[in-house]
Amino acid sequence: SANVQWGGRFAGGPSAIMREINASIGFDKVMWRQDIAGSLAHAAMLKKVGIISTDDEAAIRRGLTEIGAEIESGSFPFDEALEDIHMNIEARLSDRIGEAGKRLHTGRSRNDQVATDFRLWVRDAIDGISGQVEALMRSLATRALEYADTAMPGFTHLQTAQPVTFGHHLLAYVEMLSRDRGRLADARKRLNECPLGSAALAGTSFPIDRQMTAAALGFDRPTANSLDSVSDRDFALEYLSALSIMAMHLSRFAEEIVIWCSSPFSFIRLTDAFTTGSSIMPQKRNPDAAELARAKVGRVLGSMVSLLTVMKGLPLAYAKDMQEDKVPVFEATEAMALTLAACDGMVRDLTANVDQMRKYAGSGFSTATDLADWLVRVLKVPFRTAHHVTGQLVAMAERKGVDLSDLSLAEMQSVEPGITQDLYSVLTVEASIASRVSEGGTAGSNVRREAEGWLERLGKE
Ligand code: ARG
Repeated sequence: SANVQWGGRFAGGPSAIMREINASIGFDKVMWRQDIAGSLAHAAMLKKVGIISTDDEAAIRRGLTEIGAEIESGSFPFDEALEDIHMNIEARLSDRIGEAGKRLHTGRSRNDQVATDFRLWVRDAIDGISGQVEALMRSLATRALEYADTAMPGFTHLQTAQPVTFGHHLLAYVEMLSRDRGRLADARKRLNECPLGSAALAGTSFPIDRQMTAAALGFDRPTANSLDSVSDRDFALEYLSALSIMAMHLSRFAEEIVIWCSSPFSFIRLTDAFTTGSSIMPQKRNPDAAELARAKVGRVLGSMVSLLTVMKGLPLAYAKDMQEDKVPVFEATEAMALTLAACDGMVRDLTANVDQMRKYAGSGFSTATDLADWLVRVLKVPFRTAHHVTGQLVAMAERKGVDLSDLSLAEMQSVEPGITQDLYSVLTVEASIASRVSEGGTAGSNVRREAEGWLERLGKE
């Protein structure tokens, strides 16, 4: 039979396959709260400007509230023939309250309705994800404070470079996540304009009050152009790009956890709560949560590419293609929420193997730069020359199979006669780290100050 919402000019109903490809109720039902909120705001506005009566508005309000309770309790009869959440709710409303329900769609189209619902949904998602990012930042800063003086090798090219502190390394991710959170906040600002009242594409002849609906739904203002309003999805794309960058950051972090957990490194240990065993190798403790967090970026970035591709080349205004906007956003949100929770769990769970980290912090001639800096500071040698001298000393130590600090003073002086016993004081890991007090440097005092600053700014849980 013909569709109840537009059956007027239709004699027959859709084929089963048409119905299946057309329906979005299977996924857009998660926007039911947003849809009801939008309809409540719309009805209140219609009443205020005199388009519907006070009684009708009251009936709509009551009906929508009851429908909300039905959905919440799981008793709502979702119908694929009614295509999407908007028509499911509207049809149910008319079933329940009759004529008044049929007046709700005055001065509105599903095109502005879905754009409004989706913005509200993404806005809520931004707030949820942002809160999770904040929690992860807090956990990282807490552990950073605990490990402010814990030496570990700092790497470039994954080759031992200079000693750093584990706390400093953890705070690097706090900085990244803070920018990620900033990107979400920026996206939220631009998103926060209300498309409701743009109707199908051209606006409406009814004397609607868009300021009123925008304010009721917590938007800063109504959108300015009706065509843009129903066809814009860049709020979702901005959200997905912010998530993609964040997922990439967490993927790097997860990769480091995987490396740190591997037995040749053994820098950290995760408890049984965040590891899995092997069905054949009894000794295994696999960091599966970290590996999956490393992989989730594929899903999140895939979602962004998916939506960008859907939107590319679409003529204004609405086209049904745009119904394909939701699944990528829902999926990316779910993946991101889980990834953030897993990373937070691992950060809280991990224990640093302090001795192992300390041992490798001093390996690979990691204080060679400190030696060169000493030559510059004490002997006033130009840095390039100091670099060359140090390189010769490293080569000598390497030939002998010893550390720089194991070379005798005589051996040192055979390369640079000005070297004195004082040089040895800068060759320890502890001295190297303590000397890095430049702004943003790895010295424990810096790390403690930064971690405390973050914890203060982030506030209590
Ligand atoms: N289910 C649709 C979507 O998600 C709602 C808008 C439909 N509008 C239309 N003109 N067919 O985009």
